[in-house]
Amino acid sequence: MLRRARKTPVWRQTQGLNLATDTASLVLGIETTCDETAAAVVERRSDGSGRILSNVVHSQIEDHAPFGGVVPEIAARAHVDLLDGIVARAMQQSGVGFKDLSGIAAAAGPGLIGGVIVGLTTAKAIALVHNTPLVAVNHLEAHALTPRLTDALQFPYCLFLASGGHTQIVAVLGVGNYVRLGTTVDDAMGEAFDKVAKMLGLPYPGGPQVERAAASGDAERFAFPRPMLGRADANFSLSGLKTAVRNEAGRLAPLQPQDINDLCAGFQAAALDSTADRLHVGLRIFRERFGAPHALVAAGGVAANQAIRGALREVATAAGTQFMIPPPALCTDNGAMIAWAGAERLALGLTDSLEFAPRARWLLDANVTTPAQFANTRAGF
Ligand code: KG4
Ligand code: ZN
Repeated sequence: MLRRARKTPVWRQTQGLNLATDTASLVLGIETTCDETAAAVVERRSDGSGRILSNVVHSQIEDHAPFGGVVPEIAARAHVDLLDGIVARAMQQSGVGFKDLSGIAAAAGPGLIGGVIVGLTTAKAIALVHNTPLVAVNHLEAHALTPRLTDALQFPYCLFLASGGHTQIVAVLGVGNYVRLGTTVDDAMGEAFDKVAKMLGLPYPGGPQVERAAASGDAERFAFPRPMLGRADANFSLSGLKTAVRNEAGRLAPLQPQDINDLCAGFQAAALDSTADRLHVGLRIFRERFGAPHALVAAGGVAANQAIRGALREVATAAGTQFMIPPPALCTDNGAMIAWAGAERLALGLTDSLEFAPRARWLLDANVTTPAQFANTRAGF
């Protein structure tokens, strides 16, 4: 068993190496930051490898679909209704008892605050009752560390995270050690897909609908802008592209099915070109600052898009690095990634007090100091 640390957590500079104190652990993870209610039990062995014992995810998509997007109040109430049953199922499927757990991890942000409060408070209650350490996990860190669970990927590597709420290129240098190389200056990529779908009358969530419609569309029919193309930084911008689609759709109204397909194809092609260019620059910046990454990793719902995957694979190949993508169920929000991030932190003695406050906003690279070998290399934003 790991020693219990009740004090305020100390940020440590680490490359995620197994320390002498590293022992095997079993961690329960809870995820409630958006519209998935999820819990999982994960084992982390002392050699740093991982195994998922259970992974229960309930998507609330049906609850939110009539509103064309996630409604925070509905999400929070659904988490309250569902979470205890989902934790019970995750525990039962894992075959592990609460007394066997080395830690309780919960996503403590960033996300919709009502849901975060439900998950974190539940985790605190379990931790308190069973006298088990609490690990407050940054949801983005959990996405970032997933390829270490699935593929035992070594640091450093480059993460492209594109979901409904985030679009980031991140240098993953160690547990708790992340440098954001690029981010969106306006809409998240999944959000842009969802908004385009909505304006074209396609149901929520829009990403898969746009991809499906694009498959039958002509990407050349409209000359949509390629945002940020050629810029020296690795940031994204998607709202101008979204507005261009809106203007074209308004001009053509009422839309015929083929118009919708062509608009989707044009939008997706522009988003894809922009993504490829941004990743190309991001990987170049990565290499200049940190040397060659061990992989380019994609995560988040948008990584399910086959066209975008293809573009990312090409970018990785051109940069001479391997492309890695966790299985779909671990790319989108789930409890296993939270449990795993908790286990990685626990292995380094990073636990949190029961006073840890839920965070609606929580930058991945906040509070991080740069390790000596990467001195003067942090992105300045
Ligand atoms: O990671 P995720 O499941 O949840 C969070 O946002 O946290 O990502 C969901 C987002 C939605 O915006 C959805 O439209 C988008 O990912 N998405 C896609 C595709 N599948 C899901 N976007 C483009 N193409 C897809 N095939
Ligand atoms: Zn997520």
